[in-house]
Amino acid sequence: MKILLLGRGGQVGWELQRSLSVLGEVVALDSAPADNPTGLCGNFADLDGLAQTVRTVHPDVIVNAAAHTAVDKAESEPALARTINALAPGVLAAEATTLGAWLVHYSTDYVFDGSGQQPWRETDATGPLSVYGQTKLQGEQAVASTPKHLILRTSWVYGARGGNFAKTMLRLAGERDALTVIDDQFGAPTSAELLADVTAHAIRALETRPELAGLYHCVAAGETSWHGYARFVLEQAHALGYPLKASANQVAAISTASYSTPAKRPLNSRLDTHKLQCAFGLSLPPWQQGVARMLTEITGKQ
Ligand SMILES: NC(=O)c1ccc[n+]([C@@H]2O[C@H](COP(=O)([O-])OP(=O)(O)OC[C@H]3O[C@@H](n4cnc5c(N)ncnc54)[C@H](OP(=O)(O)O)[C@@H]3O)[C@@H](O)[C@H]2O)c1
Repeated sequence: MKILLLGRGGQVGWELQRSLSVLGEVVALDSAPADNPTGLCGNFADLDGLAQTVRTVHPDVIVNAAAHTAVDKAESEPALARTINALAPGVLAAEATTLGAWLVHYSTDYVFDGSGQQPWRETDATGPLSVYGQTKLQGEQAVASTPKHLILRTSWVYGARGGNFAKTMLRLAGERDALTVIDDQFGAPTSAELLADVTAHAIRALETRPELAGLYHCVAAGETSWHGYARFVLEQAHALGYPLKASANQVAAISTASYSTPAKRPLNSRLDTHKLQCAFGLSLPPWQQGVARMLTEITGKQ
């Protein structure tokens, strides 16, 4: 099997380089030409170059981990966000159709409007609140135009590599005596490792069961708020002996309304994963498991 992996340097892309390697040959590209020894174009802002890359590599599977993920910045550069999150996936879908290749793509809880308290199902109506959410939804729709597609909607992604919320909390708690964190947005922190492992399992399953093509929600089990997540991070870090000025008890809860950001975020980011677990025979671990593992890795403690 030949796999073209795009966005290899991101949180999920980095883990996919590991998890996909057992499936066959992986051609992994970044946006910067200098980082691609093959000389292939991996820049989603160059739509013709991207199409040419797919034709040259001629993959059996395209895995797209690239995206414009700067949610607030997207509000002030909607055209670029649309190109990367919607138009480029559309190009990949068209090329995948021509080749008869699979296209694997990631999307987000931000396609929903965040109303209610129930976990969102794949069949629920979307209603993005931000440019990022709108362009990611357009990207999903473009990817779904090719029959052999797999779209995994996920939330609150973190990895040991790259910046993430847990690392920010560790840094701030090392500098300050107290923190304030939002407590009325709910979701599940999901590791890039988990997404990459599920992707590899799913690709293997799709080889023999192509009828499983479609849209799935993929997040770790359970739920928390950003406030609960921050407290868990500091409790774990403290137990690992990591030096902190602020403890979990010094994390004060604030509302979304009191914390202004350019992009509006959904309050309810819970995603129902029954469809994925049933279709692929997978069990998704509790969110705390992956966060604790990542903290052990980044704090260097056993
Ligand atoms: N992070 C989250 O909390 C979250 C939540 C829900 C869903 N998702 C989705 O999960 C997927 C993976 O996200 P992630 O957290 O791994 O994102 P990430 O760490 O921000 O990585 C994004 C990747 O996209 C690449 N990229 C950005 N602009 C590009 C361009 N013009 N051309 C080619 N590549 C470009 C980046 O490469 P360069 O650095 O080289 O530009 C980077 O490798 C995305 O589809 C995202 O929408 C993420």
